[in-house]
Amino acid sequence: MNITAEQEKTIIREILKKLNVTDDDASIVADVTVDADLKGFSSHGIGRFPQYIRGLKAKTINPNAEITIENETVSMALINGNHQFGHVVTYTAMELAMKKAKETGIGIVGVHNSNHFGVAGYYSDMAIMEDMIGIVIANTEPAVAPIGGKEPIIGTNPIAIGIPSNKHYVSVDMATSASARGKLLEAQRKGEMIPENVALDIDGNPTIDPDAALKGSILPFGAHKGYALSFMIEILAGPLVRAAFGKQVTGTAHPEEMCTKGDLVMALDPSKFSDLDTFKLEVDEFINEVKGSGNVFIPGDMEVRNIKNHKKNGITIDKTLMEQIIAISKEVSFDLNSIINK
Ligand SMILES: NC(=O)c1ccc[n+]([C@@H]2O[C@H](COP(=O)([O-])OP(=O)(O)OC[C@H]3O[C@@H](n4cnc5c(N)ncnc54)[C@H](O)[C@@H]3O)[C@@H](O)[C@H]2O)c1
Repeated sequence: MNITAEQEKTIIREILKKLNVTDDDASIVADVTVDADLKGFSSHGIGRFPQYIRGLKAKTINPNAEITIENETVSMALINGNHQFGHVVTYTAMELAMKKAKETGIGIVGVHNSNHFGVAGYYSDMAIMEDMIGIVIANTEPAVAPIGGKEPIIGTNPIAIGIPSNKHYVSVDMATSASARGKLLEAQRKGEMIPENVALDIDGNPTIDPDAALKGSILPFGAHKGYALSFMIEILAGPLVRAAFGKQVTGTAHPEEMCTKGDLVMALDPSKFSDLDTFKLEVDEFINEVKGSGNVFIPGDMEVRNIKNHKKNGITIDKTLMEQIIAISKEVSFDLNSIINK
């Protein structure tokens, strides 16, 4: 069935509030999750909600935790999420990074003791909305085998970069693996196969079976270049921010385990490097040049197209996912029908 973005937001927010999550925090989790579904990143949308509920039950997500700043200078900070919702922690980190960037031109905030944060691009969008550049990277539970190996050691390590422009939404938001792990989980839930050239089974052979791929490894995107980039992210979002790295990273796909991943969140204020209007004009000029070269997209076009489509036609919830949401609603005495039958 299809639901509207507003319905999805209400379902998530109200269920979380029943589980003692504050209205503000529940709204952030709901907003990030709906953003994913609207943009077409259904692998990180409401399909991940049951995972967050499992995290709350297992107490690996602590909705009452206070996020603390462990270390701070004028342009950087290190945040301890104390196992709050990842969405709330990264949101807080980007707010702090932007505050610092407004003063100094750049703000860099490291995060540890957090949780799965959904889509990285939500947080880089926060910077775009303030006419700043946002960059977000994170590591995750191992899923990718280094080129030449077959054992997963590196995460799917997302990267998002958002850039302000006058006329366009300019954003790249992606896993550095050939496929986000969420897409494998989604295919598994729907009983579908995954594309070719995305994953290997446990013996290192190519597979299109999501079960075999989840037991095996996902390939990096772009062969050795994707591997090299995700290798670097593993360190920048790992040892640099006092988070775990490699095989020690837990809790991003298995919510019963404490989450040990890290994030590195950056904001840059173009007005401190250049004149803001000139910068945005030049970004638009570059985009015109690129778009004028043929029938091409720029990073962010796909999201804009998907948002338009999902606002018009709604967000699709498959049968298995709906059953999971019905079960969660019953458990917390949330009247789901009052929302979806409106
Ligand atoms: N929380 C986590 O731990 C975690 C881990 C991995 C991925 N993710 C999230 O998963 C989501 C999906 O990642 P993905 O790797 O499946 O994304 P994807 O492969 O769909 O790539 C998406 C990006 O590529 C751009 N793009 C697509 N076609 C393009 C074209 N023709 N020209 C120019 N740009 C184009 C899009 O605008 C978008 O920014 C992301 O939101 C990411 O943040 C989260």
